[in-house]
Amino acid sequence: MTKATPVIAIDGPSGSGKGTIARRVAVALGWHLLDSGALYRLLALAATRRGIGLDDADALAELAANLDVSFAANDDGEELIWLDGKPVRGELRTEEAGRGASTVAALQPVREALLALQRGFRKPPGLVADGRDMGTHVFPDAGLKVYLTASAEERARRRHKQLKDKGIDVSLAALSRDIEDRDRRDSERSVAPLRPAEDARILDSSGQSIEAVTNRVLGWARELLAEKL
Ligand code: C5P
Repeated sequence: MTKATPVIAIDGPSGSGKGTIARRVAVALGWHLLDSGALYRLLALAATRRGIGLDDADALAELAANLDVSFAANDDGEELIWLDGKPVRGELRTEEAGRGASTVAALQPVREALLALQRGFRKPPGLVADGRDMGTHVFPDAGLKVYLTASAEERARRRHKQLKDKGIDVSLAALSRDIEDRDRRDSERSVAPLRPAEDARILDSSGQSIEAVTNRVLGWARELLAEKL
């Protein structure tokens, strides 16, 4: 019997740092990376470009089933994304794209359509998957599940800095409101709500450096890899 390709699921709310940590862990292990939030963002973006309404579940599901997307990280841990074979940059990270993502993500047919696409990223030697429901729905058999959190203030501050570094100007207060709204929508929706898997390890990154959090996750990963992951 062939052993299933190992998966590390990293879930958590917006701004918890899971994207950064997932990329670094993937680079350190030499594994593949799935940024599932980017799939929802890409879908909202692709729909808007094609004039498809963000409430048109059937059209969105069809579009989702045919998304041609790939991810990689360069040695600096910077994320690279291609849609239809072309690189996608800043437009995916705007708060507008985030809102669009969270709107289409609440539609069951869309989540269903993206399931196969997400599972297709599971390829040897392993996958690091980052999102909201990696450990609960998409990869329930993941050998390591991490639920990364941070205080709401710290998450807003981090997001603010991230956007500023990319030349996107938005007020901290507006960002805090946006993050709280999105958290609420994500955790209160009826399909695949944001919550830790029962067997997830909860890691609060407030006040911790990226290196410290990355090393913590890598430590767990190596421990488990030595056993069974
Ligand atoms: O992680 P990111 O901020 O890119 O995610 C954007 C939005 O996509 C989230 O607010 C959430 O609504 C949705 N999402 C989801 N399930 C995932 C990943 C993202 O519902 N696995």
